[in-house]
Amino acid sequence: MHSSTDATAPRAASDDPSVALCDADFQFIAAFVFDRCGIVLGANKRQLVYGRLLRRLRELGLGSFSEYCARLRAQPDDELDPLASAISTNVTSFFRENHHFEFLAQDMLPALASVANPRIRIWSAGCSSGEEPYSIAMVMAEVLGNHARSIARVLATDLSARALAVARQGTYSLERLQGVSEPRRKRWFLSGRGGNAGLAMIAQGIRDLVALKQLNLLHDWPIKGPLDAIFCRNVVIYFDNPTKQRLFARYAQLLAPGGYLFLGHSESLHGMSDAFDLVGRTIYRKRA
Ligand SMILES: C[S@@+](CC[C@H](N)C(=O)[O-])C[C@H]1O[C@@H](n2cnc3c(N)ncnc32)[C@H](O)[C@@H]1O
Repeated sequence: MHSSTDATAPRAASDDPSVALCDADFQFIAAFVFDRCGIVLGANKRQLVYGRLLRRLRELGLGSFSEYCARLRAQPDDELDPLASAISTNVTSFFRENHHFEFLAQDMLPALASVANPRIRIWSAGCSSGEEPYSIAMVMAEVLGNHARSIARVLATDLSARALAVARQGTYSLERLQGVSEPRRKRWFLSGRGGNAGLAMIAQGIRDLVALKQLNLLHDWPIKGPLDAIFCRNVVIYFDNPTKQRLFARYAQLLAPGGYLFLGHSESLHGMSDAFDLVGRTIYRKRA
C-alpha cells in the first residue's frame, strides 16, 4: 500500500478548526481501537487520529467527533473495519527484509520438501495489501516447481478489508515492484497494456498458492495447524506487552515443533516467550 497509510508519514489532511477532537472523544476512540484491534494509541497519536478520522467524518457527513463516537457506540461492528483501516499502518513491500526470503529459499523450504509426503503451510498474519504473501508464494514456486500447487499454501490474513481488497486484486503500480528482481518480474507478473499500462498483475500460478481471509488477531482463528511458519512482521509493534505475549503463546501452539516465526526488523521475542530459539535475524524456531 502507498505510504499515505504510514503512521510515521507526514499527513496531508488539513486540520479543520471547526472540528475539534476533545480529550474524552480521543480517549473513547483509543480505548475502542485497543479493545477491538490491540493497537495502542498513545497521546502522541492524537494528531494522527485526528487527521485520519477527519476524512472518515467527511465521508459519513458527520460534523463532529462526538457524533462519530455516538456512531461507534451505536454500531461498533459496522464501524470497526473503516476505523481500523483508517488508523492502522498498512505500509509493506515485496521482498521486504529480503533475508527472510533468502532463509525460506535456502534453508526452510528445501528441508520441508525433503521429507516423505510433504505438506507445507505458511501463515502471513497481518498481510496488508498482499506483497508479503505473494513474495512467499513466489519463493515457494521457485523452490518447489510444479509440486508447489499440490504441497504448499500460504494463508494470508489481515484485519483491514481495504488492504485485503488490494491484495485480492493482485495488481500493483510498477513503483511498488522496486524489491522485485527483473527475472521475477518477468516470471511472476503480467504487464498491463492499454488502459492498464504502468500496472503489473500477479500471475495466476502465484495467486493459486495464496488464500486471503479477513481475520482479527485478537479474536478466534479458524486455522487448522500445525503450521510450518508464521510471518507476523511489523504488526505487533503497535500492541502492548500483554497482547504480544498472548499472541506469541498462541503462535507457539499453532506451529509444528521446529516451525518458524518471522518478526519485523524492530520486533523481538525477548522476554515475551520461552517457546522459541533465535536462529537468524528476527527468525525464531519453536523448540521441539
Ligand atoms: C505495517 S503492516 C505489515 C504488513 C506486512 N506484514 C509487512 O511486514 O510488510 C501491519 C498490518 O497489520 C494489520 N493489523 C493490525 N492490527 C491487526 C489485528 N488486530 N489483526 C489483524 N491484523 C492487524 C494492519 O491492518 C496492517 O495491514
